[in-house]
Amino acid sequence: MVDRANRPQAINAPGAAAPGPSVDISAGGGRVAARLPSGDSVDILLYGATVVSWKSNGGDTENLWLSEKAALDGSKAVRGGVPVVFPVFGPPPPNHGTSSLPQHGFARTSRWEFLGKSTSEDAEDPLSVKLDFGLYSSNLSEEARKAWPYHFGLVYSVTLGKDSLQTVMNVRNEGSDVFEFQMLLHTYLRVKDISTTTIAGLHGVTYKDKVLNSTTAAETHHALSIDGEVDRVYASIPQRTTTVLEAGSPRFDVVRDNLDDTVVWNPWAEKAASMGDFAPKDGFKHMLCVEVGAVNGWQKLEPGDVFEGGQIIKSLL
Ligand code: BG6
Repeated sequence: MVDRANRPQAINAPGAAAPGPSVDISAGGGRVAARLPSGDSVDILLYGATVVSWKSNGGDTENLWLSEKAALDGSKAVRGGVPVVFPVFGPPPPNHGTSSLPQHGFARTSRWEFLGKSTSEDAEDPLSVKLDFGLYSSNLSEEARKAWPYHFGLVYSVTLGKDSLQTVMNVRNEGSDVFEFQMLLHTYLRVKDISTTTIAGLHGVTYKDKVLNSTTAAETHHALSIDGEVDRVYASIPQRTTTVLEAGSPRFDVVRDNLDDTVVWNPWAEKAASMGDFAPKDGFKHMLCVEVGAVNGWQKLEPGDVFEGGQIIKSLL
């Protein structure tokens, strides 16, 4: 049996009259939405616990890119928003505990439970709402359970603040066997124009270039621009913050917490054209994936142990 002793409690039960942020749950819709009095909002599918919309700036600015052809009906992983990658990043390697899993694992294609919400008021972020989602080995499809037969509990917390979104993953080994995993938060940031978008905070960091046969190199740019397909795994990054700039002005700060790696991905024209769920086809001009994670090697979790890692994204408009 899965031990849910640490399952977060719903401080304000859904639907209860609570001052401050209001949380709407669309019954049967498989979604959880929260909106702060400031107008900031977040919308999350139970399928994959995928954040599909995050608006800030009084609710006027959508910060995430979501494909017009993204499947939102649970038939396949969502193309856009913030899919959760677990327990393997990319195609699984041969002869590993994850070898029978599909690319990026099962978390993004499993239905999570909504565990509840809590609100907080503190000096730094006057009003925020935290939404917790759970995925346990017992919720997995038979196929996924067979492919990765470990007992685990995942709690994914999404906290909406004024002009910020925090997403944190907690992984617990609930079984008696050690397991190894990778995890990553595959955030599709919405940008105005990729040709004037740059990334700071990666200078000097060694990366694996998946476009160039996984060769490694050290980043030479203080402000990295994107002018073609990019698919790079930056590993063991010393700076906690990666900044995305638009026309030289900071647009997003992506702050890692206990996650050392970041993938930068943009499929560009040809790859976008080959993806059936990528629309519009020139959408690559308006998105940039900055994906924080633990993907360089493996996290080993002993029975009873817990790993926690996440990010805070700040919208800097
Ligand atoms: C990125 C990978 O994280 O995800 C890319 O580095 C991959 O190699 C991309 O193409 C999208 O993956 P998927 O499975 O959602 O098409």
